[in-house]
Amino acid sequence: MRQPIASYLVIGGLLLTLSGCNTIEPAGGKAAADKPSGMASAMPTSAGPDGSLPLPADYKSWPKFLTDIPKGEAKQVRDIYINPTGARASAGQNFPNGTVMVMEIYKAKMDGDKLMTGMDGKPAKGDLAKVFVMGKEQGWGDKLPENLKNGDWAYAAYDATNKPLMEDFTKCRACHTPVAQKDFIHRYDEYFQTRSRM
Ligand code: HEC
Repeated sequence: MRQPIASYLVIGGLLLTLSGCNTIEPAGGKAAADKPSGMASAMPTSAGPDGSLPLPADYKSWPKFLTDIPKGEAKQVRDIYINPTGARASAGQNFPNGTVMVMEIYKAKMDGDKLMTGMDGKPAKGDLAKVFVMGKEQGWGDKLPENLKNGDWAYAAYDATNKPLMEDFTKCRACHTPVAQKDFIHRYDEYFQTRSRM
């Protein structure tokens, strides 16, 4: 497992160099305010690294979690990947520490109000709009207030050129909290059902 860890560090370092420190400050209230700003906040800390979780360079070679998810109302199509650590989880279990999930959000090709489909029957993808990341490590949720804590999960977002986006990460948390019983993963059941058929 040396390789993936090393590439994480390289990516993290690259992002820091490319974007400077200011853009990597985590969003989100008191927990963020307790931390020193700048460089230091890009490293995972016990307060949870919202906004600074790296986008692993090799995620497209990871196991697919679910792909071609049609999101008609949002005019989007989404692909989700899970790293090999996360893919070791069995149905009924929480995902282990070290799990990372990457969700690509594509603009959909539309035919009026409807998603266009390709020859393969799958929704046709336009340009990549954003990439969302969720990851968990022991202790990342420890310093968060109870109403924001999603276990030890942390959240980050990138634009189509892999530049970090400073979203309001409390919104990610609020919308994933209702699926706490499924380890805060919306498509938990669908993933294990689909995986077991493959
Ligand atoms: C309005 C509710 C909402 C918000 C806000 C939201 N999500 Fe999600 N998220 C979902 C839903 C629903 C799914 C399941 C896939 C789908 O239907 O698009 C999902 C799926 C995901 C997944 C794939 C794992 C899973 O849960 O199935 C990741 C990773 C993710 N979101 C990250 C984020 C990040 C990062 C943010 C904030 C920048 C965020 N989400 C904000 C509702 C939300």
